[in-house]
Amino acid sequence: MNPDSHLSKWDQRHREAETQGSPAQVLLRNQHLLPSSGKALDLACGRGASALLLARSGLETHAWDFSGVALERLEEQAREEGVRVIAQTRDVVAHPPEADSFDLILVSFFLERRIVPQLIQALRAGGRIFYQTFVQDVYLDRGPTSPDWRLERNELLHLFRELQIHYYREDGVVSAAASEVSDLAMLVASRGEG
Ligand SMILES: C[S@@+](CC[C@H](N)C(=O)[O-])C[C@H]1O[C@@H](n2cnc3c(N)ncnc32)[C@H](O)[C@@H]1O
Repeated sequence: MNPDSHLSKWDQRHREAETQGSPAQVLLRNQHLLPSSGKALDLACGRGASALLLARSGLETHAWDFSGVALERLEEQAREEGVRVIAQTRDVVAHPPEADSFDLILVSFFLERRIVPQLIQALRAGGRIFYQTFVQDVYLDRGPTSPDWRLERNELLHLFRELQIHYYREDGVVSAAASEVSDLAMLVASRGEG
């Protein structure tokens, strides 16, 4: 897809969305694994429901997305709640985070395999990545249609195998009933202390 139309498609979705969205399940289910202080990044944050959760939990929270529309909505909500989120309009594929820059990186419903090495490098010693997105192996069949934007079985584990894994689950065809985590893989992993 041409990059301009990709961006305008997202701008339009964010403009038309009725709500802020919900924080990522991988965060909601693993809040005990959040660091008590430090610098967090919500990468490809959209309207930033997860960034707001991170900011409320006391982390210095940065939120990046290439959609200025999404970030305006996030900033408006942050002002309303009186929390600080440092939002930046940024193409995260062209400009991934710098090495050793974050204590926590959250990626939710965004899959760009090419930048995984940079995401790992961007974690400071002891830093954690929280990741969730759709799998190819579906029960409910929601999310993107292209398999390129969906994970293969165990792929998230494989992509982050050099980190220490604290939490991993995959809910695909194995499900017997729909839930908030249907069709998702979720991982929490950390980089060694040094
Ligand atoms: C499915 S949404 C997920 C938003 C949010 N993380 C969430 O879980 O609700 C994907 C987001 O990626 C953003 N995006 C897509 N390509 C991007 C890129 N190259 N750089 C930065 N943001 C991008 C879109 O604007 C959109 O907000």
